[in-house]
Amino acid sequence: MNQNQSALPSSAEQVSAGTNDTPTIRLEGIYKTYDLGEVQVHALRGISLEIYSGEFVAIMGASGSGKSTLMNIVGCLDKPTKGRYFLDGKDVSALSRHDLAKIRSQKIGFVFQQFNLLARTSALENVELPTIYAGVPLAERERRGRDALARVGLSERSGHFPSQLSGGQQQRVAIARALVNSPSLLLADEPTGNLDSRTSVEIMDIFQRLNAEHGLTVVIVTHEPDIAQYAKRAIEFRDGRVKKDVLIQNRSIAAEVLPTLPSPDEDLVQGVDNPNGNGNGIAH
Ligand SMILES: Nc1ncnc2c1ncn2[C@@H]1O[C@H](COP(=O)(O)OP(=O)(O)OP(=O)(O)O)[C@@H](O)[C@H]1O
Ligand SMILES: [Mg+2]
Repeated sequence: MNQNQSALPSSAEQVSAGTNDTPTIRLEGIYKTYDLGEVQVHALRGISLEIYSGEFVAIMGASGSGKSTLMNIVGCLDKPTKGRYFLDGKDVSALSRHDLAKIRSQKIGFVFQQFNLLARTSALENVELPTIYAGVPLAERERRGRDALARVGLSERSGHFPSQLSGGQQQRVAIARALVNSPSLLLADEPTGNLDSRTSVEIMDIFQRLNAEHGLTVVIVTHEPDIAQYAKRAIEFRDGRVKKDVLIQNRSIAAEVLPTLPSPDEDLVQGVDNPNGNGNGIAH
């Protein structure tokens, strides 16, 4: 009972290998009701959908329509009130929170709007955290952490604290953290909600590459139609139901859009006191 390493994904190939017929995500009549005593909030009212390996889906819809509630269920952070959720063909809707957490650490990477990095912890240590929960041997953790940081182009910032990074860089650290256990499914709830437009496209570039080159299934929530254009499929929510589910026409390719945008100053650090006191935020 001392080891369960056989349950851990040992390589990206292993976790991304799925059959074509089994959806990565299959939701059957998912309801979520928050019981607040006098009031019941019907956040999800019967969601049924399938998402297959290699898809890139944008979930849209008005504030309060249930997008985050759904993402939390799909991400095994929460359980539905009613309905069934099959992840890679396995019914996970009735699992205990402990078992859900285990599946999450093996299969799913989650990225949040607020980055959710630990403040007094370096970029590399932030990225390594999920490997600790997954029981990865010490020697392997740093290698995986550096690998994940390299995948988001941040190798040279591994020792920086979050306060020493721009918003876009912090989000890239958060993406590296989501990738460190080689998940097959990447979920992101408004990943560009706090970022300027160029930085948002850079984040979409990372997601498009992970989807195209590494076969990751990607599901993002966004309010912005421009951002949804980078996905392959858009699902619109309304009042806890699917209102629209369409393939994206004239998809935007971030690698093509980026060269058309004004180029940023790579060393600009936003929202950080500049130790040199010249007020321009340029790190030396
Ligand atoms: N923990 C909770 N307890 C009670 N009600 C909740 C809880 N979480 C969400 N809700 C309610 O459920 C509904 C759906 O919320 P949800 O956060 O999923 O919306 P959303 O589509 O993500 O909105 P936004 O675009 O503003 O992030 C809302 O009416 C919200 O107030
Ligand atoms: Mg939300």
